[in-house]
Amino acid sequence: MKRARNFNAGPAALPLEVLQRAQNEWLNIEDSGMSVMELSHRSAEFEKIHNHAIQTLKEIMEIPDNYEVLLLQGGASLQFSMIPMNILKDGKRADYVLTGSWSEKALKEAKKVGETAVVASSKDDTYTFIPKVTDIEMNEDAAYLHITSNNTIYGTQWKEFPETGSVPLVADMSSDILSRKIDVSKFGIIYAGAQKNLGPSGITVVIIRKDLITDNDKIPSMLNYSIHSKSNSLYNTPPTLAIYLLSLVLDWAKEQGGVEKLAQINEEKAKAIYDTIDNSNGFYKGHALSDSRSHMNVTFTLPTEEAEKQFLKEVKEAGFVGLNGHRSIGGCRASIYNAVPLSHCLELAAFMKKFQESYSAKETQAL
Ligand SMILES: Cc1ncc(COP(=O)(O)O)c(C=O)c1O
Repeated sequence: MKRARNFNAGPAALPLEVLQRAQNEWLNIEDSGMSVMELSHRSAEFEKIHNHAIQTLKEIMEIPDNYEVLLLQGGASLQFSMIPMNILKDGKRADYVLTGSWSEKALKEAKKVGETAVVASSKDDTYTFIPKVTDIEMNEDAAYLHITSNNTIYGTQWKEFPETGSVPLVADMSSDILSRKIDVSKFGIIYAGAQKNLGPSGITVVIIRKDLITDNDKIPSMLNYSIHSKSNSLYNTPPTLAIYLLSLVLDWAKEQGGVEKLAQINEEKAKAIYDTIDNSNGFYKGHALSDSRSHMNVTFTLPTEEAEKQFLKEVKEAGFVGLNGHRSIGGCRASIYNAVPLSHCLELAAFMKKFQESYSAKETQAL
């Protein structure tokens, strides 16, 4: 079987080694005579897997001791509601920086819970850039400041994070967690749906500073950080298979040399495609301004709708998967998460060059 050159935005490519290890252990996990899906979530075997996932994440992200890792359900989207429900206290205001559709959605949910404000936005420029940290109208009394560290749809990424003093910085890192080194101590909460850099869909990682977890009986149990924290994220039946795969992906990330090494490879991967865009004499046009370019989602357009249609048709025929831009904005997008190998990015860059040559030659002939 030939492995697809998978540029899907999420669910996305998983490391082949992870899939092979899961295959090897499929019928018999931890010598239990059962598959991981058949284990009780209260069994010693599963608890070991669950705790291993949490410990490995703490290790590779160098998460300080005053933080907790929660493994929750409901996707990153449920965090849009859980965050304000748990940490937006009466009389306080939650601040949001708008850098794309996901931050808009996060804001929409927070508005249902309490007072909010938009303190910086690139919406008027179709989200082509990340606002400068100095342009954020910081409110020193805010309940928190929310950002989206990587904008999956528009292909922009924060390069430096705002200093927020005593205001907790909350970041949706769904599409760039583990892709580069992050100083966790700068954040109050980091959350991410797993289905891009961490594993399959069905599990959401929440890294939360312990002082932000407070008891509040008014919040429904399943939406209450305190309840999940007290039960080590085993309050109800967790998605055991997804947690197992998360633990394998984290082992894999560690074996690759950790986040620093992954960041180095990700930079090389992104450079191969961005260089192709920049050297195409305007044939390919990147959506993001260069200082805001994402190393995870490369978004670009072609000179005409017809050229774009032809490109998407031919790239698919050539065995590249998932190059269509998000349905809300169109265009093209290459999602190059940790598990996408450098070779696939180099092959895509070579295909893009070849396509440009043949398309331009046909255009010239037609004149
Ligand atoms: C940055 C970002 N935030 C949130 C989400 C929503 O995640 P989920 O589908 O896990 O709720 C996505 C999904 O692609 C995303 O890219």
